Amino acid sequence: MLVSAERGRITKIDAGKVSRGEFFTTDSAWLNKPVRKFLSEAFAASPVALDPFAGDGHLLHLVAAEFGVAIQGFDIASKHWPKNDSLKKIANPAGAVIITNPPYLANHSAKRKGVDSLVAKYFAKGFDNLYKLALDRSLAVADYVVAIVPETFLLSSFDKSRLQLVSVIEGDLFSDTEAPAVVACFGPTAKKSQVFVNNKKIGELDALLALRKFSNYKKSVIHFNVAAGRIGLRAVDSSDGVTPIAFMLAKDFKYAAGKVSHSSRLMTYVEMPNLSDAQIAEVIRIANERLASIRGESQDLVLAPFKGNDKNGKRRRRLDYALAREILNFAARQNV
Ligand SMILES: C[S@@+](CC[C@H](N)C(=O)[O-])C[C@H]1O[C@@H](n2cnc3c(N)ncnc32)[C@H](O)[C@@H]1O
Repeated sequence: MLVSAERGRITKIDAGKVSRGEFFTTDSAWLNKPVRKFLSEAFAASPVALDPFAGDGHLLHLVAAEFGVAIQGFDIASKHWPKNDSLKKIANPAGAVIITNPPYLANHSAKRKGVDSLVAKYFAKGFDNLYKLALDRSLAVADYVVAIVPETFLLSSFDKSRLQLVSVIEGDLFSDTEAPAVVACFGPTAKKSQVFVNNKKIGELDALLALRKFSNYKKSVIHFNVAAGRIGLRAVDSSDGVTPIAFMLAKDFKYAAGKVSHSSRLMTYVEMPNLSDAQIAEVIRIANERLASIRGESQDLVLAPFKGNDKNGKRRRRLDYALAREILNFAARQNV
């Protein structure tokens, strides 16, 4: 048992459990209508399911009961399955459909939690999170891979050419973590990936991601993290459920300018030195409108999740500065 002192709080850490990304999928909400349809087609091609990170086998037992398929598992630590380091290599001679919830562990978290020596060999492969290495290993040996992965996968640069369907799960899937998750379904060939929120289709992934890049306009001068900036930016939804991400006049932003530093990412002030005060006010108005339309059209998926849900049960989001810059630039070009 390690002890980690993070932000002044002392937490006990089970190093083995943390380094194995060990938390189990105790809820069956991941097997919703679109995922079920995808799996029916995959099992028609190969009626065997394999979880190379099987843990207690929750996923396998569910698909065995629902689809009547044969099951096979590996794990590095569980007594229920043959031992295998599946982050190194997965044997899949039968061409089984891989269904898994692999270990999640970001490189920076491994360092912060003091378990990096246990997992350094995996990060040497160049991925910044263990689940990406697990996906890469799985895709190398299976035509069909259904994986429960963090929602941030959608905004990551991981190769999504074989991704055919994504289902965002609202609700907690796991026994002891609230990590927002999606079910990513990969097939044997490249296809446009369809995105669902639970059972509801909301569009194609490419079209949703394109909402992040909309201005081919000449770039305005925009400086972030300037204490004397005339634009206040609350870049996260507050937990109270009534104070969402917003641009506002600095004088209306109740945030101490002295707290802003070069590394601020959540609350800050922004300056656009080439604009008059009247133009700044107009930019703020247009930027908030644009943000609202992007949030609506993408059902918030173009924004990264931030620390669980608000008081109304809605997932909180963070606006990264790349997108904030895009929005401000767009607003400035409408305005001047
Ligand atoms: C997030 S849990 C998920 C377990 C199961 N798939 C589920 O959904 O309930 C990840 C599992 O991967 C196993 N694991 C971690 N690193 C592994 C490795 N290198 N090779 C094989 N299994 C590993 C852990 O022991 C743990 O049981």
